[in-house]
Amino acid sequence: MASSLNSHSLLCLLILAIFTSSEAKDFLVGGNENAWRVPPTTTDSLNQWAENNRFQVGDSLVWKYDAGKDSVLQVTREAYLSCNKSSPIAEHKDGATVVELRRSGAYYFISGAEGACEEGEKLIVVVLSDRHSLRALGLAPAPAPAEYEGPAVAPTSGAARSTAAAAAAALSTGMMVVLEILLR
Ligand SMILES: *[C@@H]1O[C@H](CO)[C@@H](O)[C@H](O)[C@H]1NC(C)=O
Repeated sequence: MASSLNSHSLLCLLILAIFTSSEAKDFLVGGNENAWRVPPTTTDSLNQWAENNRFQVGDSLVWKYDAGKDSVLQVTREAYLSCNKSSPIAEHKDGATVVELRRSGAYYFISGAEGACEEGEKLIVVVLSDRHSLRALGLAPAPAPAEYEGPAVAPTSGAARSTAAAAAAALSTGMMVVLEILLR
């Protein structure tokens, strides 16, 4: 009885995890409506915002800005680095831009306003593949740790790693249980 209860709660947990991870999200760029502008400080604030978020295939980026004064250009890495506005991949100037992230990898955006990219109005968004998101949830094995980490590895980090590995193994077992239930 206890074991069937356990697999039921595990099933719920896994279904919750699967739904949570597959639900497409809309990200308002910069976290607020006035964020697509030259950052007030020299720190790369739009990219800091991006680094604190997890973007997945199917999510969308949303920009709100004054259509008369600004625009959003999706560009190549080279154009991003040199703030080259001359031949963007896509140009959006409607003031309420939505870009769906349809593939994993890096997306590069710069402002179309004169001189704004040079002053930091630009954004890199890295979209995780499904495999990465499964790994983040502990449902897929982490990449093997490098063997040449050196002698400076504290024993606790080894213990933590094997605990994590055990947890991942337990979750994989749970996944098999779920598959068995579904295939029955
Ligand atoms: C900007 O990009 C275009 C198209 O790729 C290129 O022809 C041009 O030389 C670039 N301009 C600068 C200043 O790099």
